[in-house]
Order: sequence, then structure tokens, then C-alpha cells
Amino acid sequence: MNSNNKDQPLIIIFLGPPGSGKGTQAQRLAQIYQIPHISTGDIFREHIKHSTSIGKKVREVIQAGQLISDGMVLEMIEERIKLNDCKNGFVLDGFPRTVVQAEEFFKFFDAQAMILVLCLEVADELIIERAEGRLVCKQCSAIYNKEAPPAIEGICDKCQGEVYRRPDDKPEVVKERLEVYHSQTQPLVQYFDEKKILTSFEGDQPRDAVHAELKKYIDQRIR
Ligand code: AP5
Ligand code: MG
Repeated sequence: MNSNNKDQPLIIIFLGPPGSGKGTQAQRLAQIYQIPHISTGDIFREHIKHSTSIGKKVREVIQAGQLISDGMVLEMIEERIKLNDCKNGFVLDGFPRTVVQAEEFFKFFDAQAMILVLCLEVADELIIERAEGRLVCKQCSAIYNKEAPPAIEGICDKCQGEVYRRPDDKPEVVKERLEVYHSQTQPLVQYFDEKKILTSFEGDQPRDAVHAELKKYIDQRIR
């Protein structure tokens, strides 16, 4: 799976509870390493926005803080990573989220690649606070917070799209998402640890400090 060949694709997989900063960090790294940022949550929200058949199926599940079926997620990811823009690698944010998803991913993605799983650790109490303050662009998925809002209220700095609060950021749904994370996603920490491709980072530091640690770690692996 991993070797020292710097010419092979770079696959970054973010693991971490809701609100741990996966999207914030993934967007920056994707830009730096010039590889696409693939967020399963963003893809589903796009389907919901356009009321597609997938959107209609997943809307209530997401708003309840539950996971979408492994089959539907896997089909979507398999199609997405076949696209040409993924040939040099990609950043996965929100996938895999169950051990079944990880096992199936390694069946259809069997190419030689540098695979780095970055786990962001943040305490549950801080997660609830962050989710309450989060604002997201409906158009380009840029992430803001009440403490770091867009320059003009309600309007995205990057694309002038509408900035809104995600319906699944209500405190009761965040609590449910955290429980789902601990029961269904956290087992992936051990799964990736056994494959010796996981490294954990303290996600409760300021955004730039987390970014600097992630970038330093990746650069040491690929250069
Ligand atoms: P998804 O969209 O992936 O949500 P999530 O994993 O719950 O994670 P979040 O997007 O809430 O948080 P994040 O870690 O990206 O944090 P962010 O950077 O925004 O999934 C949504 C739903 O889709 C799921 O519940 C499920 O239903 C479904 N789904 C998706 N993928 C699936 C899959 N594979 N299988 C099945 N179902 C799936 O940061 C949060 C806030 O904190 C922001 O306001 C940000 O500005 C702020 N912040 C970030 N970093 C810092 C920092 N260091 N200091 C201070 N504030 C910070
Ligand atoms: Mg996210």
C-alpha cells in the first residue's frame, strides 16, 4: 500500500468526530496538494439541495444524525474516484465511516498509493460548541464560524453564495451524531492503526496550528 515513491497518488483520509475540523483542514490541504476534496456530507447536501432521488432518500437520515447505508455511500465513492481529477490522489472527508466501508474501499481501490489517515481528536464538549457556531456556504461549502464569520453577514467571502446553519447542527442532532461516531466510526481508529497508516493530531488547537502539524507530517512522508 504505502512505499516511498513520491510519484504515486496521495490519498489523505480524515477521521474524527463531527465538528473536529475535517472539512476545514481538508479544504486547505486539497488546495496545497492540488488534489480534489471529496466530502461525502457535501455531496449528499448537494443532492438534497437539488432534490435528486438520492437527496430525497437521504434527507431525513442526515437530519436525524444517522448514517446513510454503506451500499449507497460506496457506490457514490467508487464512481467519484474513477474520475480523471483523482488520478494524482484525493482527500477523503467523512469516508470511510464504518469498518465495512473501509474494507470495501480497499477492494475497489487497489492501486499503489501513499495513504495517510489523519485522525483529529477533539473532546465532545468542544464539538457541541463548535457545531452551534458553525456556518456553511450553500454553494461552495466554505466553512465559517460565529467567531470567524464571513466579512458580510450571510454572504460567502469566496463565492458570494448564501451562508446558512446546517439543520443537523442542532444540539440534539449533534449529540446523536456523536453517539453514532463513537459506536460506528471510532472502531476505524483501531482498524487503520493495525494497518500502520493512522496518525492522531490534537484538533483542539487553533486552526492554523492544526494545519501546520498536518502539513509538516504529510511533507515528511511525501518528499
Ligand atoms: P459530514 O458532513 O461529513 O459531517 P460530520 O462528519 O459530522 O462532520 P462535520 O462536517 O460536522 O464536521 P467537520 O469535522 O467537517 O468540522 P468543520 O471543519 O466543519 O456528514 C453529514 C452527514 O452525512 C452524516 O451525519 C451522515 O448522515 C451522512 N454521511 C456523510 N458521509 C457518510 C458516510 N461515509 N457514511 C454514511 N453516512 C454519511 O468544523 C466545525 C466548526 O468548527 C466550523 O465552524 C469551523 O469553523 C470550526 N473549527 C474547525 N476547526 C477549528 C479549530 N481548530 N478551532 C476552532 N474552531 C474550529
Ligand atoms: Mg465536514
